[in-house]
Amino acid sequence: MIAQNKPMDELDNYRLMLGNNQYVPIMVGGMGVNISTVELALEACRLGGIGHISDAMIPFVSDKKFKTKFTKAKSERHRESRDTFDKTNVKFDLEDLRLAQLSFVESAMEQKKGDGGIFINVMEKLNMASPGETLRMRLTASMDGGIDGITMSAGLHNSSLKLIADHPRFHDVKIGIIVSSVRALKIFLRSGKRVDRLPDYVVVEGPLAGGHLGFGEDWREYNLKDIFVEVVNFLKSEQLDIPVIPAGGIFTGTDSTEYMQLGAGAVQLATRFTISEECGLPAKAKQAFLSAEEKDVFVSTLSPTGYPLRLLRQSPCIDSNVKPQCEPLGYILNKDGGCQYIDAYEATGFNEKGKKLPVKDKVCLCYHFSKYNAYTCGHYVYRLKDTTQKLADGRFQVLSAEHIFNDYLHSTEHKIALPEPAGELEPQAETKRSA
Ligand SMILES: Cc1cc2nc3c(=O)[nH]c(=O)nc-3n(C[C@H](O)[C@H](O)[C@H](O)COP(=O)(O)O)c2cc1C
Repeated sequence: MIAQNKPMDELDNYRLMLGNNQYVPIMVGGMGVNISTVELALEACRLGGIGHISDAMIPFVSDKKFKTKFTKAKSERHRESRDTFDKTNVKFDLEDLRLAQLSFVESAMEQKKGDGGIFINVMEKLNMASPGETLRMRLTASMDGGIDGITMSAGLHNSSLKLIADHPRFHDVKIGIIVSSVRALKIFLRSGKRVDRLPDYVVVEGPLAGGHLGFGEDWREYNLKDIFVEVVNFLKSEQLDIPVIPAGGIFTGTDSTEYMQLGAGAVQLATRFTISEECGLPAKAKQAFLSAEEKDVFVSTLSPTGYPLRLLRQSPCIDSNVKPQCEPLGYILNKDGGCQYIDAYEATGFNEKGKKLPVKDKVCLCYHFSKYNAYTCGHYVYRLKDTTQKLADGRFQVLSAEHIFNDYLHSTEHKIALPEPAGELEPQAETKRSA
C-alpha cells in the first residue's frame, strides 16, 4: 500500500500492490451468473482496478454469448433421467467444460485495456456433479485462457491449490481466497503450505455481502470490521505480508478509506455496481434493486447449496415450482447426483386440480439464476436509490460503472456524487447486456 498525503483522505490516495503489479484499490467482486459481466470487469480493469468475471455456469453463459450449444448437448445426452428424480448419471462433459471456460476467459482477456486486472471468481461449492474434476478443469482452463488472477470462493478450498499445483502458471497467476473467519484462512494457509503456495491476497467477506454468505443463521452476530481486524492481526502475528481486502456493505468512498486506514490492501465492492450499465442484470431487476426498501431484504434458506442466500422478497424465484433442470444445467448436483431442490420438489404435493404446489423450502438455483429470477444483493441494496436520479416516469437512472468507480475513489464524508440527469429511458431498456 502506498499512501500519499492529501488533506481529505480519499480512496485514490492508496494503491494495492500484488507482487510487482500496482492497482487502484478497487476490486469489483464476482457476481454469478454473469451479473459481473466481462464488460463490467473490463471497465474496472481499464480504470486501473480489478474486475472479476464469474465462472458460475460458464457453458450456459457461453451459449447465450457465443451461440454455442453446450447446454442443449448436455440435455440431450441425459434425456433418460428427465422424468425421474435419479440424477446419478447426469455429468458434465469435461472437454466441453474446458472449451467453454477457455473461450470465455480468452475473449475477456483479448479485450483487456488499461493497467488493471481481470480476475475470475471460482466457487468451490459449484459441485457440477463431479466436484474435484470440474473444479480442476475450471481452474486450469482459466489459467490457460490467460486470466490475471483467481479468487477462490464459496468454500474452504482445502484441496483446490493441490489440484493445480502442476500447472505452469501456478506461481505466476495471482491467487486469493474469500474467507469469513480466521479459522477458514488458517485451513487455506495450511493447504497452501503443502504445495508451497501462499495466497497473494485475502478477501474478508462480512455478513452484509450479496450472494451466499459464509455464515450460518447467526450471521447477525458478526461484523466485517471485527473479522477484518482479526485477520490483519493474525497475518501480522504470522509475519505474513498479504494484502487483506474487506467486502460486504462498503457503500461509500469513506467506508473504503476507513478500511484503508486500518490497513486494508483494497476494498471489494459489488452491490453498488449492480445498477451499472455494464452489469448483466436485466433492466427490470436493476429497477427492483433501485426501488428496494430495507424491509424487502432478507437472508433466506432457499438455496439448495445449504448456504444462506441474501435475496429481495420481490425475487421471481420465490414460491416457484419449476421442475429440476439438472439435465441442461445441473450445476449444484453433488457427486451422487443429489441437490436439495430435487428433494424439496419431490416432497411437494399437488392441488386438487393435479397442479404442483409452490415449492416452499428451496429454489431451483440453476434455473432461476439462468433467468435472473433470484435477486441476490448486498444488505444495503435499499440505499442504491440515493446514488442516482429518479426519472420523470418514476424509474431510476442506471449509471456507468466508471461513475460508480470514480465516486468510490474520490468521495469524502460519506457523500455520494449523483450523475447528471439523463433523458427518459426507453421502456424497459436493456442496457449493454452481454448475455
Ligand atoms: C448480485 C450479487 C451476486 C454475487 N455473486 C457472487 C458469486 O457468484 N460468488 C461470490 O463469491 N460472491 C458473490 N457475491 C458477493 C460479492 O462478490 C461481494 O464480495 C460482496 O457482495 C461485496 O459486498 P457489497 O455487495 O455490499 O459491496 C455477489 C454479490 C452480489 C451483489
